This record gives sequence, structure tokens and C-alpha cells, in this order.
Amino acid sequence: METTSLGGLKVSRIGLGAMGMSVFYTGAGRVDEQGISTIRRALDLGVSHLDTAEVYGPFTNEDLVGRAIRGRRDEVVLATKFGLVSHTGRPGADSTPANIRLAVEGSLKRLGTDHIDLYYQHRVDPDTPIEETVGELAELVAEGKIRHIGLSEAGPATIRRAHAVHPIAAVQTEYSLWTRDPEAEILPVLRELGIGLVPYSPLGHGFLTGTIRSLDGLDADDWRRTNPRFTGGNLERNLHIVDEVHAVAAEAEATPAQVALAWLLAQGDDIAPIPGTTRTDRLEENTAATAIELTEDQVTRLNVLAPALGDRHDEAGMAAIDR
Ligand SMILES: NC(=O)c1ccc[n+]([C@@H]2O[C@H](COP(=O)([O-])OP(=O)(O)OC[C@H]3O[C@@H](n4cnc5c(N)ncnc54)[C@H](OP(=O)(O)O)[C@@H]3O)[C@@H](O)[C@H]2O)c1
Repeated sequence: METTSLGGLKVSRIGLGAMGMSVFYTGAGRVDEQGISTIRRALDLGVSHLDTAEVYGPFTNEDLVGRAIRGRRDEVVLATKFGLVSHTGRPGADSTPANIRLAVEGSLKRLGTDHIDLYYQHRVDPDTPIEETVGELAELVAEGKIRHIGLSEAGPATIRRAHAVHPIAAVQTEYSLWTRDPEAEILPVLRELGIGLVPYSPLGHGFLTGTIRSLDGLDADDWRRTNPRFTGGNLERNLHIVDEVHAVAAEAEATPAQVALAWLLAQGDDIAPIPGTTRTDRLEENTAATAIELTEDQVTRLNVLAPALGDRHDEAGMAAIDR
């Protein structure tokens, strides 16, 4: 597995998102042993960059990751997130220094480690100045509890203010063939400041793999059943995107998932996606995307695809995104 640098933090070119093992998607919470095998297989393949969060469960996903990496901590670049669970009794996002202190201790315990490699603020807390949040995170760096600081769904102005307090290694946001939003403003700022980009949901929550052509077969509580991209006729209207991914995949002798990931890798060395899967066969398939070289013509055809219809989150989810 090749590696790349996120603002000075060395990570595998492709990582693994663990979220879907515990929450949101079909099978979540019922596939713990399968998830653990998938995480261990990832480490065997050199997929070192593992992504989780306190709020996934809450807590159960960090527990799962902690169990999976027991005895193998040195092989892992461990990323987790705080700020969507309040331990101080405040409603909503909580990035107060007091909450960070409580959150980090819980995450360290569940993950079975004495340090987190990349600690993200999960969503910007509009009631806590980012300088206060990053100031506290800088203290955690100084104490060795965390190694690098990340932000998730932060807007350009917040990124600049945060980076002025302490270097930010990575920003995580949704980025994929059907979510091109970061290209306009976020990516240029990250490149100017030397911060890496970690695209979340790089497979469009599975849509770009071509395996979801209707909602049939998804669990009744699968998060995609209420997401605007998958509902109100948008799923059907967005299928042309996946059809083009399929066509390129056939030409490139790759799978659609590999094409979606290879397209992201082609966007720059400072981009390290974290596709999520609960299955070892899909992990192997996704990881092999590093070997797929798309032609210039194929990248162009994918670049000019019409944007997806439907917001990428529901109304409350969109409101929590800092712009
Ligand atoms: N910062 C944030 O706010 C935020 C938000 C969302 C996600 N994330 C992070 O990003 C990670 C990845 O995002 P994501 O899980 O939402 O979406 P994703 O990686 O775009 O897609 C995951 C879905 O695709 C399916 N899949 C994966 N590989 C496949 C393949 N080769 N063929 C067919 N289907 C495949 C998975 O199902 P199976 O399990 O059945 O393979 C799963 O349902 C998460 O795990 C999480 O760590 C962060």
C-alpha cells in the first residue's frame, strides 16, 4: 500500500471508515465480528488509516475499533472525532474545552490506546470560538494525548482561524463523484495552507458502486431511506451518474467502486479517502483501486458529469455544516 501525507501525517493512500459497521447502514450493529475481521484484513494489506468517531453508536464504533486493533496499535493511524456528544449537559454540538477533556479520555479508553493520531472536531460549534477549541486541542498535543488536529465540515474562514492557532493536519468533508462541493473553496484553502483532505463517503454511501439502484433490500432504518439524494425520485434521476461510472469501469477493467476511488486519487496526493465497508472482499476491492490509472479522457468524462440531485444531507444535517 502506498502512503501519502496529510499535513505531515503519513497515512495509507486509501483508508477504512468504520462507521457503517455500527450505525446508519444496512447491517449496522449486527456485523461486529465481520467488522473486526475487515479491520484486521485492512491492517494486513497496509491500510493503516482507520476512521471512527465518538458519536458513532454513540461509543460502540470506537469500542469495536479498539477491539479490532488490540495488539496491533503500532500498525494504525487512528482517527476519531469529538464534539457531537456533549458531556457537559449542553444541547447540540459541544466543542468547549471542558467537553473536549471529557471526550478524549473516553475515546482513549474505548480505543485501548494512550494516544489518538488524528483528532477531529466533528462539526463546528457555533457557540464556541474555534480558537478556544483548537487552543485546547493544542494542549492535548503538548500532553501527547493526540498527535494531530483535524476539522470536519469546517468552512474556509474557520479553517484559516483554526490553522492560525495550531497547524491543522486534515479537513474531512464529503467529496466524491457526486459531491464536488469542496473543489470551489475548501480545496484551494487547504492547498494554500498545506492541509490534507480526507474525503468521507467517497463511494456516495455505496451509490457509486452501482449496487444500490433502488431502496429495496435496505434495512427499514437505513439512513439512506431518508436522505434527499436517495428519495423523492432523486435516486432514479441520479442513476445516470453511476451508469457513466460503470461504462468507465468496463473500459478500465475495474469495478465502479475502484473507478470512484481512482478518480479521487487522481485529484491530488493530498487527498486520502476513507471508504467504508463491513466486508473483507469489498475492502480488498477498494484497496486495489490504487493500481487503477484512469486515462485523461476517462477523468474528463467523469469530471463533466452533471451534479447529483438532492442535498447531501437532510435539512438539519445541512444546517450543521459550517460554510
Ligand atoms: N466526518 C463526517 O461527518 C463523516 C460523515 C460520514 C462518514 N464519515 C466517515 O467516512 C467513512 C466512509 O463513508 P461512508 O461509509 O458514509 O460511505 P462510503 O464509503 O461512500 O460507502 C459505504 C457504503 O458502500 C458500500 N460499499 C463499500 N465498498 C463497496 C464495494 N466495493 N462495492 C459495493 N458496495 C460497497 C458499503 O456497504 P458494505 O458494508 O455492505 O460493503 C456501505 O454501505 C465512514 O465510515 C466514516 O468513518 C465521516
